[in-house]
Parts: sequence; C-alpha cells; structure tokens
Amino acid sequence: MKVTKAIIPAAGLGTRFLPITKAVPKPMLPVFDKPTIQYIAEELRRAGIDEIIIVVSPDSEVIMRHFGRAPELESRLLSDNKKKLYEIEQETCSFNVKFAIQKEPNGLAGAILCAEEFIGDEPFALLLGDELIYAGIDEQSCMERLLSIYEKTGKSVIATMEVFGDDVSKYGNIGIASEEDGVMQVSAIVEKPSIADALSNNAIIGRYVLAGGIMSKLKALKPRNNEIYLTDVLDELAIKGELLASTFNGVRYDVGDKFGFVKANVEYALMSAEMGEDIKTYLKELAAKL
Ligand code: UTP
Repeated sequence: MKVTKAIIPAAGLGTRFLPITKAVPKPMLPVFDKPTIQYIAEELRRAGIDEIIIVVSPDSEVIMRHFGRAPELESRLLSDNKKKLYEIEQETCSFNVKFAIQKEPNGLAGAILCAEEFIGDEPFALLLGDELIYAGIDEQSCMERLLSIYEKTGKSVIATMEVFGDDVSKYGNIGIASEEDGVMQVSAIVEKPSIADALSNNAIIGRYVLAGGIMSKLKALKPRNNEIYLTDVLDELAIKGELLASTFNGVRYDVGDKFGFVKANVEYALMSAEMGEDIKTYLKELAAKL
C-alpha cells in the first residue's frame, strides 16, 4: 500500500530549550528564515507525501497560523507590489495540513495516537518536529529512501545513524541481525542504553515509515510508568523480523538541542542564495579573531 500520509508530532514541552519554548513550540524555532516544521513539510512534499497531520498542544495556535491564510498580510503585500514576499508567504499556506490536538504531553506514542482519526490503520510516515535532514537536490532524501524500502518490502523502516561515546545513551539503539546496502534487519531495540548495554552503535533518529496496523498495536499496548512507548511496538516488530532500519544520505540536525540549533542556523544561512556569501565572509573574519 502506498504511503500518502505523514504525522509530525509537535506537541512536546521542549524543556531542553527553555526559556524560548515556554511560549514558542520547538518546531517553530527558526532555521535561518523558516520554522523547522516548514522544512519538514517541504521534505514530505519532495518525497511525494501530500497529507500532513501535525499534532499540536492546545496552546500551539502559532503553528496553525503559520500554515493558514493571512488575508490582511496578503492584500498588503499585493497592494505594496511586494511580489517576492507575497510568494514566500503563499508558500506557507500551500501544504495540505490537518491538525490533531494532544491535550497532555504524554509522550511520542500518545502524540501519534492523537492522529488516529486521520490515519486509521493505514501505513504512515512519522517525522519528529525538531529534526532536520538536509539532502542536496541530486541526492535521494532520507524520507525518499525509507519510502522506497517500504514499497519494496512492505516492512516498517526507521532511519538510523552511527553514534559513539556518550551519544549512544541519548538515543534508541538497535540490534542488527543482518545488513545489505545500508538496509538492516533489526533484531531488537533498547531505549537510551548505557554504553555497556548498547546493542550496536546505531541510533534511531526522527524519521520512520510505519506499516499498516501500527495504530491498533499502539492502542493495545500496556502502559509503563503511565505512558505507552513507540519503542515497545518497534521491539515487537523487530522480534517478529518485521522491522528494517536504513542509513541515509545528507546531514541530520537536532534543532531541539541548543548546539544542534546553532549548527543548523549557521549551515543553512551559509547555503542561502540570498546572503550565503556575506555570511561566509563574516564567519571567516570572526574565526580569524577567535
Ligand atoms: P522530544 O522528546 O524531543 O520533545 O520529542 P520534548 O519532550 O518536547 O523535548 P524535551 O526533551 O522536553 O526538550 C520529539 C518530538 O515529539 C514531539 C515533540 O514536539 C518533538 O517534535 N512530542 C513529544 C509530542 O508531540 N508530544 C509529546 O508528548 C512529546
């Protein structure tokens, strides 16, 4: 079955990034001139997924405003003949976006279940709202690769990257039964293990394509510490040999982490046609003084 829908969970508290996340949802943090979540919507468009369900907290109307129409701004830009700015503004309302509300920030699995009415038991893509993966225009993007693996195998597939040292304990970790051309058969999952308990150096990052039936599996889960965990469903799939993981081209940025946010901003600014050259000159001057 072709994947046509995606969920972007964007309702977390974002405590690692206080104080800005007190009033601004993490997925609205800007990278150069756009909120992170707009890059994610663009990533989905490039991969051919048209329907996006964003899970927001009850006080996140700023995300809805970003993707909605702004009649007064639009007519002002038109009457001032600011065509380029008008096009930039129009781009933000060109996505097919629906919203689901997560009343309590009870974790990622809770956020996914809030989108159930839009997904049912269909397969879907899942993209965490605070991670960017940059792929050059000639490269296959991470989401394109995951979708092509899902279409060939019918199995759920998650993106993975290698991490080392203390970073191992910051991510979900996978056991690998076999590997061919960067596609791995996952044997088990451990959530944020100590280095000694890690199954490999392969971390789970925020891009997934999940096969049909996942919503029912999530609903059937028994809560642990009053929460349900996506990891528990992934582990169940792994044990049955129904979970794949894949490496990907491109660079991943964790925009929800302060250092990752700064790196993303510097690098996206450098890539900008508008002022990349000016920023490069500025950075060279600055680096010479450090
Ligand atoms: P994180 O675990 O990075 O987000 O979730 P967080 O809980 O907001 O952040 P910290 O750790 O307190 O700083 C990854 C993604 O899942 C969403 C977040 O908005 C983020 O995009 N999420 C997380 C939800 O939508 N609901 C939740 O209950 C938790």
